[in-house]
Amino acid sequence: MSNNVDQIIQKALSENRTLLLEPEAKEVVKAYGIPVTRYKVAKSLEEAVKYAEEIKYPVVMKIVSRDVVHKSDAGGVKVNLKNAEEVKKAYREIEENVKKAVGNYRFEGMIIQEFAPEGREVIVGMTKDPQFGPALMFGLGGIFVEVLKDVSFRVAPITRYDAEEMIREIKGFPILQGVRGQKPVDMEAIINILLNVSKLVMEHPEIEELDLNPIIAYPDGVKTVDARIILSKQ
Ligand SMILES: Nc1ncnc2c1ncn2[C@@H]1O[C@H](COP(=O)(O)OP(=O)(O)OP(=O)(O)O)[C@@H](O)[C@H]1O
Ligand SMILES: [Mg+2]
Repeated sequence: MSNNVDQIIQKALSENRTLLLEPEAKEVVKAYGIPVTRYKVAKSLEEAVKYAEEIKYPVVMKIVSRDVVHKSDAGGVKVNLKNAEEVKKAYREIEENVKKAVGNYRFEGMIIQEFAPEGREVIVGMTKDPQFGPALMFGLGGIFVEVLKDVSFRVAPITRYDAEEMIREIKGFPILQGVRGQKPVDMEAIINILLNVSKLVMEHPEIEELDLNPIIAYPDGVKTVDARIILSKQ
Protein backbone atom coordinates (compact mmCIF):
# COMPACT_ATOMS: atom_id res chain seq x y z
CA MET A 1 0.00 0.00 0.00
CA SER A 2 2.74 2.39 0.96
CA ASN A 3 4.25 1.40 -2.38
CA ASN A 4 1.41 3.07 -4.14
CA VAL A 5 1.99 6.18 -2.05
CA ASP A 6 5.68 6.22 -3.01
CA GLN A 7 4.70 5.92 -6.66
CA ILE A 8 2.34 8.89 -6.47
CA ILE A 9 4.95 11.01 -4.70
CA GLN A 10 7.73 10.05 -7.12
CA LYS A 11 5.56 10.71 -10.16
CA ALA A 12 4.72 14.23 -8.94
CA LEU A 13 8.36 15.01 -8.14
CA SER A 14 9.52 13.68 -11.51
CA GLU A 15 7.11 16.13 -13.15
CA ASN A 16 8.46 18.93 -10.97
CA ARG A 17 5.19 19.22 -9.07
CA THR A 18 5.15 19.84 -5.34
CA LEU A 19 1.35 20.06 -5.11
CA LEU A 20 -0.45 16.73 -5.44
CA LEU A 21 -3.68 16.80 -7.42
CA GLU A 22 -6.83 16.11 -5.39
CA PRO A 23 -7.21 12.51 -6.65
CA GLU A 24 -3.53 11.84 -5.86
CA ALA A 25 -3.81 13.31 -2.37
CA LYS A 26 -6.99 11.32 -1.73
CA GLU A 27 -5.30 8.11 -2.93
CA VAL A 28 -2.42 8.75 -0.52
CA VAL A 29 -4.60 9.29 2.54
CA LYS A 30 -6.91 6.44 1.53
CA ALA A 31 -3.89 4.11 1.51
CA TYR A 32 -3.49 5.01 5.19
CA GLY A 33 -7.07 4.06 6.01
CA ILE A 34 -8.47 7.58 6.03
CA PRO A 35 -12.05 7.63 4.69
CA VAL A 36 -12.53 9.84 1.61
CA THR A 37 -15.52 10.46 -0.63
CA ARG A 38 -15.80 7.87 -3.42
CA TYR A 39 -14.46 9.38 -6.63
CA LYS A 40 -13.46 8.86 -10.25
CA VAL A 41 -11.64 11.15 -12.63
CA ALA A 42 -13.48 11.83 -15.89
CA LYS A 43 -11.62 12.95 -19.01
CA SER A 44 -14.70 13.87 -21.02
CA LEU A 45 -18.28 15.01 -20.58
CA GLU A 46 -19.56 11.53 -21.47
CA GLU A 47 -17.30 9.96 -18.87
CA ALA A 48 -18.44 12.50 -16.29
CA VAL A 49 -22.07 11.42 -16.74
CA LYS A 50 -21.13 7.73 -16.69
CA TYR A 51 -19.11 8.11 -13.48
CA ALA A 52 -21.78 10.23 -11.80
CA GLU A 53 -24.22 7.38 -12.41
CA GLU A 54 -21.76 4.84 -11.00
CA ILE A 55 -21.05 6.93 -7.94
CA LYS A 56 -24.78 7.71 -7.60
CA TYR A 57 -26.43 11.10 -7.37
CA PRO A 58 -26.04 13.62 -5.89
CA VAL A 59 -22.41 14.19 -6.86
CA VAL A 60 -19.77 16.90 -6.71
CA MET A 61 -17.56 17.89 -9.65
CA LYS A 62 -14.20 19.66 -9.38
CA ILE A 63 -11.49 20.62 -11.80
CA VAL A 64 -8.28 18.58 -11.72
CA SER A 65 -5.37 20.62 -13.03
CA ARG A 66 -1.81 21.26 -11.93
CA ASP A 67 -2.42 24.88 -12.90
CA VAL A 68 -5.35 25.36 -10.51
CA VAL A 69 -4.28 25.70 -6.90
CA HIS A 70 -7.53 26.98 -5.41
CA LYS A 71 -10.31 25.12 -7.14
CA SER A 72 -13.26 27.04 -5.74
CA ASP A 73 -11.59 30.44 -6.30
CA ALA A 74 -11.33 29.52 -9.98
CA GLY A 75 -15.01 28.54 -10.16
CA GLY A 76 -13.91 24.92 -10.39
CA VAL A 77 -16.22 23.31 -7.83
CA LYS A 78 -19.91 22.39 -8.28
CA VAL A 79 -21.72 20.58 -5.50
CA ASN A 80 -24.97 18.67 -5.15
CA LEU A 81 -25.50 17.76 -8.82
CA LYS A 82 -28.63 15.66 -9.03
CA ASN A 83 -28.87 14.31 -12.58
CA ALA A 84 -27.13 13.99 -15.96
CA GLU A 85 -28.36 17.41 -17.11
CA GLU A 86 -26.83 19.11 -14.08
CA VAL A 87 -23.58 17.19 -14.56
CA LYS A 88 -23.30 18.31 -18.20
CA LYS A 89 -24.08 21.91 -17.30
CA ALA A 90 -21.54 21.89 -14.44
CA TYR A 91 -18.87 20.39 -16.72
CA ARG A 92 -19.24 23.19 -19.27
CA GLU A 93 -19.44 25.90 -16.62
CA ILE A 94 -16.33 24.72 -14.82
CA GLU A 95 -14.39 24.60 -18.11
CA GLU A 96 -15.48 28.15 -18.85
CA ASN A 97 -14.87 29.51 -15.32
CA VAL A 98 -11.37 28.06 -15.06
CA LYS A 99 -10.43 29.34 -18.51
CA LYS A 100 -11.55 32.80 -17.44
CA ALA A 101 -9.79 32.63 -14.09
CA VAL A 102 -6.43 31.15 -15.08
CA GLY A 103 -6.22 31.35 -18.87
CA ASN A 104 -4.74 28.33 -20.64
CA TYR A 105 -4.45 25.45 -18.22
CA ARG A 106 -3.53 21.79 -18.39
CA PHE A 107 -6.72 19.77 -18.09
CA GLU A 108 -6.14 16.58 -16.12
CA GLY A 109 -9.84 15.80 -15.79
CA MET A 110 -12.88 16.42 -13.64
CA ILE A 111 -13.05 14.59 -10.35
CA ILE A 112 -16.57 13.26 -9.77
CA GLN A 113 -17.29 12.35 -6.17
CA GLU A 114 -20.15 11.53 -3.87
CA PHE A 115 -21.80 14.54 -2.27
CA ALA A 116 -21.25 14.31 1.48
CA PRO A 117 -24.38 15.38 3.36
CA GLU A 118 -24.18 18.03 6.04
CA GLY A 119 -22.48 17.12 9.28
CA ARG A 120 -19.97 18.75 11.62
CA GLU A 121 -16.84 19.94 9.83
CA VAL A 122 -13.40 19.30 11.26
CA ILE A 123 -9.93 19.77 9.83
CA VAL A 124 -6.69 17.92 10.31
CA GLY A 125 -3.44 19.43 9.13
CA MET A 126 0.31 18.98 9.23
CA THR A 127 2.98 21.64 8.86
CA LYS A 128 6.69 21.28 9.42
CA ASP A 129 8.26 23.19 12.23
CA PRO A 130 11.94 23.92 11.52
CA GLN A 131 12.82 22.87 15.06
CA PHE A 132 10.34 20.15 16.00
CA GLY A 133 9.56 18.63 12.61
CA PRO A 134 6.04 17.57 11.61
CA ALA A 135 3.34 19.18 13.76
CA LEU A 136 -0.25 17.96 13.59
CA MET A 137 -3.16 20.33 13.88
CA PHE A 138 -6.80 19.66 14.72
CA GLY A 139 -9.77 22.02 14.72
CA LEU A 140 -13.34 22.60 13.67
CA GLY A 141 -13.81 23.80 10.09
CA GLY A 142 -14.90 27.16 8.71
CA ILE A 143 -14.96 30.22 10.96
CA PHE A 144 -13.70 28.24 13.96
CA VAL A 145 -10.29 27.87 12.41
CA GLU A 146 -10.22 30.95 10.17
CA VAL A 147 -11.55 33.54 12.63
CA LEU A 148 -11.31 32.04 16.09
CA LYS A 149 -8.06 30.08 15.58
CA ASP A 150 -9.54 27.39 17.81
CA VAL A 151 -7.01 24.65 17.07
CA SER A 152 -4.73 22.23 18.90
CA PHE A 153 -1.22 21.08 17.96
CA ARG A 154 1.06 18.12 18.72
CA VAL A 155 4.43 17.14 17.34
CA ALA A 156 4.30 13.82 15.43
CA PRO A 157 4.42 10.93 16.06
CA ILE A 158 1.43 11.02 18.38
CA THR A 159 -0.15 8.37 20.60
CA ARG A 160 -3.86 7.59 20.89
CA TYR A 161 -3.86 9.55 24.14
CA ASP A 162 -2.38 12.61 22.37
CA ALA A 163 -5.06 12.35 19.69
CA GLU A 164 -7.81 12.23 22.33
CA GLU A 165 -6.36 15.29 24.05
CA MET A 166 -6.08 17.20 20.77
CA ILE A 167 -9.79 16.71 20.20
CA ARG A 168 -10.85 17.46 23.77
CA GLU A 169 -8.79 20.61 24.23
CA ILE A 170 -10.33 22.78 21.51
CA LYS A 171 -12.94 25.23 22.80
CA GLY A 172 -15.46 23.98 20.29
CA PHE A 173 -15.34 20.43 21.69
CA PRO A 174 -18.96 20.63 22.97
CA ILE A 175 -20.05 21.00 19.34
CA LEU A 176 -18.53 17.58 18.63
CA GLN A 177 -20.20 16.13 21.71
CA GLY A 178 -23.51 17.47 20.47
CA VAL A 179 -25.70 20.29 21.70
CA ARG A 180 -29.45 20.34 22.27
CA GLY A 181 -30.01 16.64 21.99
CA GLN A 182 -27.76 16.22 18.99
CA LYS A 183 -25.75 12.98 18.94
CA PRO A 184 -21.97 13.13 19.42
CA VAL A 185 -19.84 12.70 16.31
CA ASP A 186 -17.77 9.56 15.82
CA MET A 187 -14.75 10.47 18.00
CA GLU A 188 -13.09 7.12 17.36
CA ALA A 189 -13.06 7.82 13.62
CA ILE A 190 -11.45 11.25 14.20
CA ILE A 191 -8.84 9.75 16.53
CA ASN A 192 -8.00 7.22 13.82
CA ILE A 193 -7.54 9.97 11.24
CA LEU A 194 -5.10 11.80 13.54
CA LEU A 195 -3.14 8.59 14.19
CA ASN A 196 -3.07 7.67 10.51
CA VAL A 197 -1.95 11.13 9.42
CA SER A 198 0.81 10.90 12.03
CA LYS A 199 1.91 7.55 10.59
CA LEU A 200 1.71 8.83 7.00
CA VAL A 201 3.89 11.89 7.59
CA MET A 202 6.43 9.95 9.65
CA GLU A 203 6.77 7.34 6.90
CA HIS A 204 6.90 9.95 4.12
CA PRO A 205 9.20 12.80 5.07
CA GLU A 206 8.83 14.21 1.52
CA ILE A 207 5.44 15.52 2.66
CA GLU A 208 5.93 19.14 3.66
CA GLU A 209 2.33 20.09 4.29
CA LEU A 210 -1.00 18.29 4.50
CA ASP A 211 -4.54 19.53 4.86
CA LEU A 212 -7.72 17.51 5.20
CA ASN A 213 -10.15 20.39 4.93
CA PRO A 214 -12.95 19.78 5.42
CA ILE A 215 -13.58 16.37 6.95
CA ILE A 216 -17.30 15.95 7.58
CA ALA A 217 -18.02 14.12 10.83
CA TYR A 218 -21.22 12.16 11.53
CA PRO A 219 -22.43 10.15 14.52
CA ASP A 220 -21.30 7.05 12.61
CA GLY A 221 -18.17 7.74 10.61
CA VAL A 222 -16.38 10.58 8.86
CA LYS A 223 -15.66 11.56 5.28
CA THR A 224 -12.77 13.63 3.93
CA VAL A 225 -14.09 15.80 1.10
CA ASP A 226 -10.91 17.71 0.23
CA ALA A 227 -7.30 16.68 0.68
CA ARG A 228 -4.27 18.78 -0.10
CA ILE A 229 -0.65 17.57 0.08
CA ILE A 230 2.44 19.63 -0.65
CA LEU A 231 5.83 17.96 -1.12
CA SER A 232 9.13 19.54 -0.30
CA LYS A 233 11.32 20.57 -3.22
CA GLN A 234 13.95 17.85 -3.72
N1 LIG B 1 -17.74 15.75 -1.84
C1 LIG B 1 -18.24 16.83 -1.26
N2 LIG B 1 -19.42 16.76 -0.59
C2 LIG B 1 -19.96 17.85 0.00
N3 LIG B 1 -19.41 19.08 -0.04
C3 LIG B 1 -18.24 19.22 -0.70
C4 LIG B 1 -17.61 18.12 -1.34
N4 LIG B 1 -16.45 18.56 -1.89
C5 LIG B 1 -16.39 19.88 -1.62
N5 LIG B 1 -17.46 20.30 -0.90
C6 LIG B 1 -17.71 21.67 -0.43
O1 LIG B 1 -17.12 22.60 -1.31
C7 LIG B 1 -16.11 23.35 -0.65
C8 LIG B 1 -14.93 23.61 -1.61
O2 LIG B 1 -14.39 22.40 -2.05
P1 LIG B 1 -12.85 22.08 -1.92
O3 LIG B 1 -12.42 22.27 -0.51
O4 LIG B 1 -12.62 20.76 -2.53
O5 LIG B 1 -12.21 23.18 -2.87
P2 LIG B 1 -11.06 24.23 -2.56
O6 LIG B 1 -10.77 24.97 -3.77
O7 LIG B 1 -9.97 23.57 -1.81
O8 LIG B 1 -11.82 25.21 -1.66
P3 LIG B 1 -11.26 25.93 -0.38
O9 LIG B 1 -9.99 26.58 -0.81
O10 LIG B 1 -12.39 26.86 -0.09
O11 LIG B 1 -11.06 24.81 0.62
C9 LIG B 1 -15.75 22.54 0.57
O12 LIG B 1 -15.27 23.33 1.61
C10 LIG B 1 -17.07 21.86 0.93
O13 LIG B 1 -17.88 22.75 1.69
MG1 LIG C 1 -10.32 22.77 0.25
